[in-house]
Amino acid sequence: MKEQLAKIKEEALAALQAAASAAALDELRVKYLGKKGELTAVLKMMGKLSPEERPVMGQLANDVRAALEQALEERGTALEAAALEQRLKDEALDVTIPGEAVTLGRQHPMNIALDELLDIFIGMGFTVMDGPEIELAVYNFDRLNAEEGHPSRDWSDTFYFDEDSRVMLRSQTSPMQIRAMDTMPLPIRIVAPGRVYRKDEVDATHSPMFNQVEGMVIDKGVTMADLKGALNAVAEKLFGHGTKTRFRPHHFPFTEPSCEMDVQCHKCGGRGCPTCKGEGWIELLGAGVVHPKVLEMAGIDSEVYTGWAFGLGLERLALRRFKIDDLRLIFENDVRFLEQF
Ligand code: PHE
Repeated sequence: MKEQLAKIKEEALAALQAAASAAALDELRVKYLGKKGELTAVLKMMGKLSPEERPVMGQLANDVRAALEQALEERGTALEAAALEQRLKDEALDVTIPGEAVTLGRQHPMNIALDELLDIFIGMGFTVMDGPEIELAVYNFDRLNAEEGHPSRDWSDTFYFDEDSRVMLRSQTSPMQIRAMDTMPLPIRIVAPGRVYRKDEVDATHSPMFNQVEGMVIDKGVTMADLKGALNAVAEKLFGHGTKTRFRPHHFPFTEPSCEMDVQCHKCGGRGCPTCKGEGWIELLGAGVVHPKVLEMAGIDSEVYTGWAFGLGLERLALRRFKIDDLRLIFENDVRFLEQF
């Protein structure tokens, strides 16, 4: 029995020393000290010993138990410490490593120009309106008084989705005029910015996708004088006090009379320079008095209500505003270019 106890002690201590986790330790505790453990099994045989041997063996067994309990406790503490050490190592944070710089983006020049423009119109009581880029020809053409056969409806100019030319990528923001008339109570004052599409080859002044801002007023007693007054005020706010404008006769199916508005070149003051290509004036927008037929098609009494509208190329405005000379820069999104604004 003495040898048995010695063997248990030796084995158990070695096993405890090798235990790699708290769970393994627990298993060993059960194996040696548990109710069905090896040490207990030996103790159960005490009864068979002689009265002289019993206390000696009892003492020995108690010593073995005490030694195992102490070893268990020590190994447990050591494992805990090692685990903590490992966690500290794993979760270590080197606060001296330089951080990654956050590159802040900034507003695109075209959006800067748009915000400035919308600000002016909002200040004049206009509502900003948004609409679909996939549009029905009914809104893009028919109800804008551009009948079947109108040159702008040609397949060579417009992106259609269907054989019948009824669904298309809008070629102008003017359908927003009709959508406003259909959905808003009178009087109406709207501006509607958005993308438009035309079959143009890309060059310094053309892109198959570009942005327009539409504007429209419908009220009682509105005339061409209101159009000129409002657009002159906008030009002054955009390009500075005293900015001169010029209205040239033009044609649009949905306005009568129609015009184009030029702004005197800010670079040369009208004498002619490379910026205005020697013209002295820079074309800014198309406009006109809303055609009575367009009002009537929208169910608005053209004897009572009149209106004016304009459409402006936003990229062109941004090019002017920031003295950029190539439209492609607006779309390429080269950060080295965009960073400058
Ligand atoms: N939609 C016209 C164009 O794209 C511009 C325009 C809008 C003209 C409103 C008059 C009134 O050229």
